[in-house]
Amino acid sequence: MPGKLEGKTAIITGAGRGIGRGIALLYASEGARVIVNDLGVSVAGEGADNSPAQQVVNEIKAAGGVAMANYADVADMDQAEDLIRQALNEWGQLDILVNVAGILRDRMVFNMTEEDWDAVVRVHMKGTFATTRFASLHWRQRREGGRLINFTSGSGLFGAPGQPNYAAAKMGIWGFTLSCARALGRYGVTANSIAPGAATRMTDTVPDERRLGGAPVRAESAEGTERDPANIAPTCLYLASDEGGWITGKCFGVSGYRVTLYNNIAPQVVLQGTEPWKTGVLFERFPQAFGQAIPESERPKPAQAPA
Ligand SMILES: NC(=O)c1ccc[n+]([C@@H]2O[C@H](COP(=O)([O-])OP(=O)(O)OC[C@H]3O[C@@H](n4cnc5c(N)ncnc54)[C@H](O)[C@@H]3O)[C@@H](O)[C@H]2O)c1
Repeated sequence: MPGKLEGKTAIITGAGRGIGRGIALLYASEGARVIVNDLGVSVAGEGADNSPAQQVVNEIKAAGGVAMANYADVADMDQAEDLIRQALNEWGQLDILVNVAGILRDRMVFNMTEEDWDAVVRVHMKGTFATTRFASLHWRQRREGGRLINFTSGSGLFGAPGQPNYAAAKMGIWGFTLSCARALGRYGVTANSIAPGAATRMTDTVPDERRLGGAPVRAESAEGTERDPANIAPTCLYLASDEGGWITGKCFGVSGYRVTLYNNIAPQVVLQGTEPWKTGVLFERFPQAFGQAIPESERPKPAQAPA
């Protein structure tokens, strides 16, 4: 049986480890020619190492697949352009771009430095934009469609208190993905985002006491379990395939064996006036209009005394 991505070419960023690696391996096993991009940095985005990307390429080749390594920093415009060019020069086309590369620098908002804010926003938001910028140019010229899959996070969707930079960047990616879905639809390109959950070196950085839902699975013992990062890849395969072409502008939560379609943000309750709001009128109408929609459990608690 032919693979689901036979004849396609794909770039997966941050594919030297974790979730991206799982996607690269699955895409290659389904017939895609794959560029495995990874700068090989620490979780905080420091250093550089060619070996993670090269190792995944070696694995793909050993299994009979076709792959090339790329060591670009995705947030550098020139390097991002070269990454897309690598696929075009070698294979003449790019069908699928999956933006997975990411870093973490967790701090509470009152302790966040400018440097930690900028570094995280840069890799996630600018890195997702930079590669998409050059891929979309190709898709617009080629008019044969394309698939864009970007990585957002529950951190932004639910608001993780210790990750203000990451939450903001990940919601930025979600808005960017929606914009791409609207802009590139006429060229046959779909754009969707994934909010994953898997045990990787990234989740290993979360202190045990801050974990929701049970004992943590460490990255090194995740293989073959529900928390295996490889479990994110099948949904990315569906969205990248010809069969998945009916879905665009959507966000899927993927964790273990569960796939969740999230609602896009939409109006919930509308308070419509007929003239500029007078203070007394608005103060009366606000609780009347929105009170039922915001239950007690979602309302702010009083400030706590210092411990
Ligand atoms: N693991 C989870 O539960 C989880 C949850 C929510 C979101 N995510 C997102 O999923 C994606 C993958 O995360 P992971 O858990 O596999 O992490 P990971 O650290 O295992 O993999 C990320 C990879 O990105 C690479 N990278 C970082 N900066 C780069 C850059 N500038 N250019 C190129 N490569 C770069 C790293 O070297 C690393 O190999 C990230 O975008 C992350 O934010 C993960």
